[in-house]
Order: sequence, then structure tokens, then C-alpha cells
Amino acid sequence: MCGIVGYIGSNGACKILIQGLKRLEYRGYDSAGMALVGNDGRLNVHKSKGKVANLEQTAAAGDTEGCLGIAHTRWATHGEPNDINAHPHVSQSGDIALVHNGTIENYAVLKKVLSDHGVEFKSETDTEVLVQLIEYIKLTSNCTLSEAVREALLQVEGAYAIAVVERGEPDTLIVARKSSPLVIGVGDNETFIASDATPIIGYTDKVIYLENDEMAVIKRGEPINIVSISSNLPSKIDIHKLRLSLAQLEKGGYDTFMLKEIFEQPATLCDCLRGRITPDGRRVVLSGVELNKQKFIEAERITLVACGTSWHAALIGKRLIQDFCQIPVEVEYASEFRYGNPVLGPKDIVISISQSGETADTLAAIQIAKQKGAFVYGVCNVVGASIPRATDSGTYIHVGPEIGVASTKAFTGQVTVLTLLALAIGQLRGAIDEEKVYEIASALKTMPKTIEETLKVDTEIQKLSRIFTYAHNFLYLGRGYNYPTALEGALKLKEISYIHAEGYPAAEMKHGPIALIDHEMPSVIIAPSDSLYDKIISNVQQVKSRGGAVVAIVSKGNTAMNDIADFCIEIPEVPECLTPLVASIPLQLLAYYIAVNKGKDVDQPRNLAKSVTVE
Ligand code: M6R
Repeated sequence: MCGIVGYIGSNGACKILIQGLKRLEYRGYDSAGMALVGNDGRLNVHKSKGKVANLEQTAAAGDTEGCLGIAHTRWATHGEPNDINAHPHVSQSGDIALVHNGTIENYAVLKKVLSDHGVEFKSETDTEVLVQLIEYIKLTSNCTLSEAVREALLQVEGAYAIAVVERGEPDTLIVARKSSPLVIGVGDNETFIASDATPIIGYTDKVIYLENDEMAVIKRGEPINIVSISSNLPSKIDIHKLRLSLAQLEKGGYDTFMLKEIFEQPATLCDCLRGRITPDGRRVVLSGVELNKQKFIEAERITLVACGTSWHAALIGKRLIQDFCQIPVEVEYASEFRYGNPVLGPKDIVISISQSGETADTLAAIQIAKQKGAFVYGVCNVVGASIPRATDSGTYIHVGPEIGVASTKAFTGQVTVLTLLALAIGQLRGAIDEEKVYEIASALKTMPKTIEETLKVDTEIQKLSRIFTYAHNFLYLGRGYNYPTALEGALKLKEISYIHAEGYPAAEMKHGPIALIDHEMPSVIIAPSDSLYDKIISNVQQVKSRGGAVVAIVSKGNTAMNDIADFCIEIPEVPECLTPLVASIPLQLLAYYIAVNKGKDVDQPRNLAKSVTVE
């Protein structure tokens, strides 16, 4: 949520910043801005409402000279998206410019104090308070910029990743973080800073992940100096190697990132599974579990915490762990868990699931779980993100950068890792027999091929999408393992096509939602040939007999459903616990094509951001 980028080196900063913002645009795209410090020390600020392309045009018409700069793409929290509220914010004198990702919680109090001392504010944002406070401290204490930044941060409550530059200081870039992420790219005589590593790829593969409560002073031609904000003591600097390529950040011939990511799933699942099932298909090996065997053997309860799509994956994880491990499992929205005073102890395992690894609510849930003595395991995609660094251990899903705001390949990656995790824990605890492991692991091994097969429904779904493009409401129904798949299908449609959609356990229909059914309310019903198939048939009939159109997702060869449903989409037959993996493919495509038919921006839907780093 909000993306920040910065550069100090010997090349023109403007081009690097614009390119960096474009790579970070998935984090927010209400408005964008940049501040450049010219080699002679003059400070130029450019801002524009809307996407980064608008800023590019605005900046091109002005002065863009300078080899030092900071930039920002915004997802509004305080104040509407307009030029004034766009970052960078500048201090009253116009000397200091700052970009910020996060929320300053005590901004109202600080604003009042500063206003009482004659500081005049221009924007409605929480961020402006910070830059004004820095200048106020610098002027009243007669200290350096870095001392003022540190002092101001000691007074601030909330979350932040910031970058600061000053007029007359073309050789200094200051950054700091607490709870919001910040990565420093270390090049040859140049340094990059960004909310995540994507703007840095192609320039350097050496990165430093700034830790919570750290501040870095980056001076041209000098080693980077990192200190703890609270103690002012120097921090140890760890340089990590980035393993991302530029090709992973491009559309690769597809119209959108979302379509690329849907079609990438056979390959991403291959990466996700690599080396995790023994060649004979009889054992699942996850290093995070192997290294913490005792914790998993002694666990008395597992709680899964996540948000959005990751929460849907968690619901599937619950069934998998219950089925294979015989441990009580709970699933919580991270945002509820964090304020729910959870009862946890050392025999509890909390599994946090997150694509980005930066979701603020999930991070907060992890902190609470750790404080209460639980062992925290992470399932994450982005290597080196805050969540994998905050957890005790974990497993990466390794599906590569997901750029479309609507999660697709991360969902199938999460479900795959949760399946592996459930099998690994089940084996450790002796709760699952060898043949069952072999059956599921073998089907997982061929899952990339199965998904490739499933993707052949593409043309059929494109045609189907035209029939439903103008529906105003949708119901998605499923049972057992596929109730969460229904929730996920509905979420996909909502977020990119703006059509109201609800996911329900199919049997719950008769307790209320069935009142909504008429000829204008289509239902998508996930009905693979599994243990609940006969039950779901009667749910389909209940919808049909009330005039609702039904799109049924059925297993290949199920011709009986043709007589009941209006449209049948066939998916390959797989073991019951793996049906969400294949059933989610036609749902992703249906949402995608409906949104495209409606002319929506599927990669950057309105109001959304990929990384939700605020509460
Ligand atoms: O990065 P995370 O998995 O923690 O993100 C959680 C949700 O914000 C995310 O899944 C969101 O719901 C997606 N836009 C869904 O497509």
C-alpha cells in the first residue's frame, strides 16, 4: 500500500524513479509524485493525480535534473487523492521533502502542537506532519537533517517507511522504517531504495532489508550507515542476493499480468513443488517442518491466520490439516485475531499465510502469537519480506512475483504448500497412512500437467463470460473443500469486475440466501464428483426450480449435470482434497473475461492495492 522509491548515484534520477514507480504501481495508484535534488542543490517537486503515467508527463514539462531523488505512488488513507495530498510532502520552508508508506497514528496531536507553533499545513495527510516536525526540530535544535529525522521518528506512533531529501544536500538520502517494508539496493557507486525489490531488479542483485526501528543515512561515495532509531547504535549490515529476473516482471506477451499469472500456473506449481516430494512419491519433505519436528509432534492446536485470498487458502488448509493430522484447527481473519485476545500457549502453532509477506494485520497477528508463546510458521511468496522474517520458520510458495492485484497463482501456490504441509505434519505425527500420502503426493506431482489440461477451458469460458457480463449479482456455491473455492471465485469477480458476488456453503442457501434467487441471479456451483456430489445436486435443483441460471463446474465425464445445469464446465478428476486447485482455474478465467468485457482495468482495479500495509 503506497510504494516508495529513491535513488542516489551518478545517473539521472528521474528516469530511474519513474520506472521504479511503474513497477510499484500495483501497491497503489491514486496519485504519484517525486522530488529531485539537482547537482547544484536545488529541489524540484512534481506531483500528479492518477497513475504514474500522468506524473511522467507532468515531470517531463518541468525541471528533472539531478542524480538524487525520491518518489511515491499513493493509495490514499488520509485525504482524497489529489495533487495536494500526493507525496512528496515538503516542509514549510520548502527545504525538506519526504515520501511515506504507512500511517502516522498520532498525527492529529502532533499537528495541533506544530500549528500552535505557527506551522502552516497544506494537505490533509498524516504524512505532512512528519516532514513539518522534522523541519521544526532541525530549526529549533539546530541539528543535522539525520538527527532531526531520528528525533522526529521517536515522537511518531504508527507505521512508516520514509525517504527524505533536503534542498542544498545533493549527496544525502535518508531512509527509515517501522512496520512498513524498505529495501536498499547496493550498486556500484549508486544506491536504490524501494518498498520492495522490484524497482531494483536489473540494476543490482545486492540488497539490504532494513529492519524495524532502523534508519539509514546514504551519502554519495560513503559506506551506508545504518543505526537503530531508538538507541542510535550502529546496526550490523547483512547483504542478501536477489534471485529475481526482469522477465518475471514483464507481461510476456499477455495483455495483462493477471492473464499471464493465470496461465503461468502449471509452471509456478512446478516451482512450488520442486524438491518437496521424494522421487518415489512416498514422503513430503519441508525443511521448515523437519527443523522443528518436536513442535509439530507436540502441537495441540493449529490456528491459521490470513486476509483475503490467503484466508480462503487457510480455510482449505484447515480441512487438509484436520483430515491428515487429526489436530484441532482454527482459521481466523488476521484483523480479528489481533484484537480478539487469543488464548495461546507453547503447544499452539500459528500458521500465517500471505502472498506479499507485508500485510499489516497478518504481521500484527504474528507479533501477538509470538508474545503469547505460540510457534509461528509462515507460508509466504515474497522472499525476504517482513512476514517470513518475523516468523519462527516457514515455507515459501515460490510462485514468482504476482503483479496483478487479484491473486491467482499465489492462491494455488498457497493451497499446494498447505497440502504439502498437512501431509508432512500428518506423517510426523503418524496420523496418515503411507498409501494416502502416496495417492495425494502422486496427484500433486502431476498437478502442473493437470492445471495445463484445465486451462483448455479458456475459450469456453470466454464465450460463457459474454452471457453474464451484465449480471448485477452472482452467487458462488460449494461444499466441503470447495466452499472456500466458492468464496475465492466470488472475491475474484467482485474485485476486478465490480459485480456484487457472494460465496456460500451450498447447503446454507436454504437458510436465507435462496430468497435472492430469480432469473436475474446466476449461480456458479462447484460440483466435482466427490463425496458430497449427491448432496450438491439437490442444491443445484433448489436453485433451478426457482428460476436461477446455473453454471456448474463438474468433473470430466459427468454428463448427468447437463440435464440440470444451464452450463457445465468440465475439470479433470483429482483426489477430493485437490479439487480446489483445479476448480479455481475456470473461476479465475470467468472473473477475468467478465471484467475485460466490461472494459475494466483488471491489473489495477479501483480502490485496491496489492500489499495492504495499513490497518
Ligand atoms: O499479501 P497477502 O496475501 O497477505 O494479501 C492478503 C489480501 O490483501 C489479498 O489476498 C487480497 O484479498 C487480494 N487482492 C485478493 O485477490
